[in-house]
Amino acid sequence: MSAEKVVIFDTTLRDGEQSPGASLSISEKLEIAHQLAKLKIDVIEAGFPVSSPAQFEATRLIAEQVAGPVICGLTRTHPEDIKSAGKALKDAQKSRIHTFIATSEIHMKHKLRKKPDEVLRTAVESVKLAKTFTDDVEFSPEDACRSEKAFLVEVLTAVIEAGATTLNIPDTVGYVLPYEYGMLIKYLKDNVPGIDKVVISTHCHNDLGMAVANSLAGVRNGARQVECTINGLGERAGNAAMEEVVMAIHTRGDFFGEVTTGIEKSEIYRTSQLVSQLTGFVVQPNKAIVGRNAFAHESGVHVDGVLKERTTYEIMKPETIGLSGSRMVLGRHSGRHGFIDRCESLGFKLSDNEIEAAYQKFLDVADKKKEVFDEDIAAIISDEVRAVEHFYNLEYLHVSCGTGTLPTASVKIRTKEELKQAAAWGDGPVDAAYEAIREAIGLEPKIENYSLRALTGGKEALGEAIVRIKNNGRTFVGRGVSTDIIEASAKAYVDAINRMVSAEGKEEEETKAEL
Ligand code: KIV
Ligand code: ZN
Repeated sequence: MSAEKVVIFDTTLRDGEQSPGASLSISEKLEIAHQLAKLKIDVIEAGFPVSSPAQFEATRLIAEQVAGPVICGLTRTHPEDIKSAGKALKDAQKSRIHTFIATSEIHMKHKLRKKPDEVLRTAVESVKLAKTFTDDVEFSPEDACRSEKAFLVEVLTAVIEAGATTLNIPDTVGYVLPYEYGMLIKYLKDNVPGIDKVVISTHCHNDLGMAVANSLAGVRNGARQVECTINGLGERAGNAAMEEVVMAIHTRGDFFGEVTTGIEKSEIYRTSQLVSQLTGFVVQPNKAIVGRNAFAHESGVHVDGVLKERTTYEIMKPETIGLSGSRMVLGRHSGRHGFIDRCESLGFKLSDNEIEAAYQKFLDVADKKKEVFDEDIAAIISDEVRAVEHFYNLEYLHVSCGTGTLPTASVKIRTKEELKQAAAWGDGPVDAAYEAIREAIGLEPKIENYSLRALTGGKEALGEAIVRIKNNGRTFVGRGVSTDIIEASAKAYVDAINRMVSAEGKEEEETKAEL
């Protein structure tokens, strides 16, 4: 029997954007929507068109420009909402209108001030009106989990008759527990006439930290659409996190064998990063799947285990979500083995004496700092244990840049034999300097990472640049310090190149000696 597909409905641009403090411009929404299409999201809830001209325009542009997913617009049951969504979605390849009204006693009495029969009538009318714009109509009884079951069944039965094709069951306030939510989905599946012809959807909020667990309980009990957001953004404590739902279904195929998703998992990390950057919501380091530490190992026992056999401490491969590999964070608990392994992967070949000296220094640093980064290790080894021979010395650097000018740089680099010079332009002053250095040296090492931080405070702060370069599959880290950040950046690049040339030269000598 082939697995049934769970439709992944992403509401980052609607419920996610309702996160307090998150607001996206129209062009940012469009950028995220294009990335969601690459991720192969099935349905994108692009916005709530009637709520503002910007929401309308974002939904309209996404509908017009983003191909692949169904593009959905949210509406209350008001006719003007539905007409506005119909208009915004007019150019979509595939469109959906999602209309909602609350069905719980609390909401009907205090918020809507409507009697249940009025709510029922309004729900049916809204679905019928939405059907005049698109065949694909979703209905949500808001606060479903705190609604009376008998009334919920009545409303859902009526909206199916009116033409709804997806029934969404929101846990609007994140109140229920996984068992309860699963049982509610089962109850509706067993008791709403005609429900087998429509898709049942989950929409779970995270107020008690249950959003993902509740969504999965819904799937286990027959839901075939999950509404979720990237990084779990959303009202208050957020919605179910897309990456967690998808990776749980994927990783626990033994449990969810009857279902699968169509998500392009290798785009998960990139999408998470994009949403984090554009919303300004930093992903917590220990966030499942996409957090900085999700594939990081620190304790000696764990690092040793993973190096011997990855599955000892990893249930998923980092590559599956688009990462290049696991991250071994060094700290006090990493042990000698983890430390030596990291030194080697950074391109340092140390003698036994050097290892001993470096390891003792590392322990001192690890006592002061919780996490020891690759950059710190490079600094320990180069500054304290072994200064690398400088094949290339940056003797002169001149950079010219400013508003409306093309950044240009000229450099002079001295080697034992000669003075090499070059000039170049770039996207910015650092890029121009790097281009000139490459030109002068005649090497093109790939820059993997560049970072800059202030070492000291105040206007005269020392800036430290760290550059990580890659050559022939090996990584070399260079460091440069100066009160001038462009100079620090150039020094760091030359330092990384010197380390590379030094390591490669040594290897050549060793090979010759072996022959
Ligand atoms: O949480 C909720 O109930 C909603 C509805 C609009 C579906 O976001
Ligand atoms: Zn919601």
